[in-house]
Order: sequence, then structure tokens, then C-alpha cells
Amino acid sequence: MFEKLRTPEDVFGWQLGTALTMERAILGALNELVHESRSEEVREALLAHKEETREHEANVEAAFQALNWEIAEESSDAAEAIAKQGKSEASKAEPPLIDRIILGAAIETEHYEIAVYENLILQARALSLDAVIPPLKANLESERGALEKVSKLASRGVPPAFAGAESGPESASVTSPAGGR
Ligand SMILES: [Fe+2]
Repeated sequence: MFEKLRTPEDVFGWQLGTALTMERAILGALNELVHESRSEEVREALLAHKEETREHEANVEAAFQALNWEIAEESSDAAEAIAKQGKSEASKAEPPLIDRIILGAAIETEHYEIAVYENLILQARALSLDAVIPPLKANLESERGALEKVSKLASRGVPPAFAGAESGPESASVTSPAGGR
């Protein structure tokens, strides 16, 4: 949308547009990963985050509207790559390892999203664009909650569904990357 960024507000608008691209790309990735996930717990976490991500998308749109700016996506290589990462890694893994990959990708993605919203809030404050702060803060808090949830699942060595899988969590966890490929 922007051919040239000329003012600090342009930069903020562009960053807001990349956040919109990020949320939409993540929504697409979640749609696919829900079908890849193996355990009920991971699938439920993905489905819950899908609903939250729809709210994040709406909140970014609300931020544009709060400024009476046109809602516009801006391309973001980082956001699109991060959204793709889980899917591409999952496709390389043996089935019992897929949920670990999904949770790892989710943790990395949440950290990225948190950084995006922290930066947007900081920029909005510096530019006195106060109207956009509430929807952006709502997203930041929601992403932090999602990070906590997936981190808990991952730190438990998830997923209970391994109990019924062909190889157990122990054999999965001791396989070195070199040996596994
Ligand atoms: Fe999000």
C-alpha cells in the first residue's frame, strides 16, 4: 500500500498492516495444523487459539478504524515465514513427533507476535496515537496467555496421545536430529 514511508505515522501504519498480515497468515496456518495435530489437548489448544486469532485480526482492524485509516495488509516476509514454519517442519516428522513440532512452532510464533504488539504499543505511545492502544494491548495480553498455555503443554513433554502411538515419548526424545533424518 505504501510506496514510500514519509512520516512516523506512515511507519506505524505500515507496521500495523504487517501485523494484520501476520494474524491472517497465522489463522491460515492454524487451520492446517489443527488437522496435523495428534493429541486432543494440542488440537483443543490450536482450536482455541484459532478463535483468539480471529479476535486479534478484528482488533488490528479496529486499530486502523480508531485512526480513521483504511484497513490495509502490508507484506511481511517474517510473519509469513513464521506462519509456515510449523507446517513445513511437521511434514518432515514421524507422526509421534508432530505435536512437539507444533508446540515448538507455537511458542516461537507467540514470542514473535508479542514482540510485534510490544513494538506497536511503544510506537503508538511515542506518536500519541492513544486510540489504538486498547485493541493492541488486548492482543498483547491474549498472546501472552497463549504463550503460557502452549509452554505448559510443551514443558510437560506432551502429549498424552503418545501413549497410544507406535513409538513412545522416550524413543522420540532421545533421537538425535542427525539420527532422525
Ligand atoms: Fe495473534
